[in-house]
Amino acid sequence: MKSTIYYFSATGNSLEIARQISKELDNCTIKSMTTKLPEEPVGGPDESIGFVFPVYYLDMPFFMEQFVEKLNILPGTFCFAITNYARYKGNALNNLEEILQKKNIQLDYADEVKMPGNYIVSYPPPNPDKLEEIFKTSRIKVDNIIKSISNNNKKTAEKSLLSRIFTKHLKFIIFGNISKWDEKFVADNKCTCCGQCSEVCPVENIKIENCHPIWQHHCERCLRCIQWCPTEAIQYGKKTVGIKRYHHPNVTVENFIETKD
Ligand SMILES: Cc1cc2nc3c(=O)[nH]c(=O)nc-3n(C[C@H](O)[C@H](O)[C@H](O)COP(=O)(O)O)c2cc1C
Repeated sequence: MKSTIYYFSATGNSLEIARQISKELDNCTIKSMTTKLPEEPVGGPDESIGFVFPVYYLDMPFFMEQFVEKLNILPGTFCFAITNYARYKGNALNNLEEILQKKNIQLDYADEVKMPGNYIVSYPPPNPDKLEEIFKTSRIKVDNIIKSISNNNKKTAEKSLLSRIFTKHLKFIIFGNISKWDEKFVADNKCTCCGQCSEVCPVENIKIENCHPIWQHHCERCLRCIQWCPTEAIQYGKKTVGIKRYHHPNVTVENFIETKD
């Protein structure tokens, strides 16, 4: 069976999960959800399509929602979704299921994996011992997920009380308009003008002008720019000063750049 995994990942956790799954599935390709939408319909009765992504604000990332809404999936496709999160998995899988249902596509298998937190504007990454523990537990969980997907097992997204009350409307009331959020990003004097922040931004929100990164106000808040700056020159106001950066140890910045169109 041919499989395609669409992933998004800011710090590599989702990419590592996508890679672990793809290694074990026959004829499996990984594609970034930040690249162009496929022009042709995807999937089909003998194919599987997977989504691997982080939880953002108890939901899926904003641009992923748009990607899935526009993706043309053929009927009969075996569809799976694996989300990963740091503390609160929220409503991401239920909302994804709803989007797919509107397209008459069933989410056949839905599961989640706990991974290290990367929301650096609120908390630092876990310490090395904790990281090791999280990776060990997640690897066991991913192995079980692989077995289930390989056998075309079904698993519906768990419905929580949160998923009933945390509707899309409520989300917009709480988080408002994300676009101006990037006004607090600054590059301090450690910036070497290398342009890596611009290259890794999944939504082309950073332009380099006169050797300075300028954020363009359509930020998705993934914080890749902060996490992958080689000199740790990018800060979000004062919140990230002196806070350790994080990315999954098996993932390099090139892995993101090479999947960009
Ligand atoms: C903007 C943003 C929002 C997040 N929201 C949540 C959340 O609601 N619940 C949670 O448990 N983790 C949350 N996280 C943490 C990530 O889901 C988690 O660290 C994930 O493993 C990151 O995966 P990645 O490395 O593939 O980007 C958030 C992270 C970011 C950057």
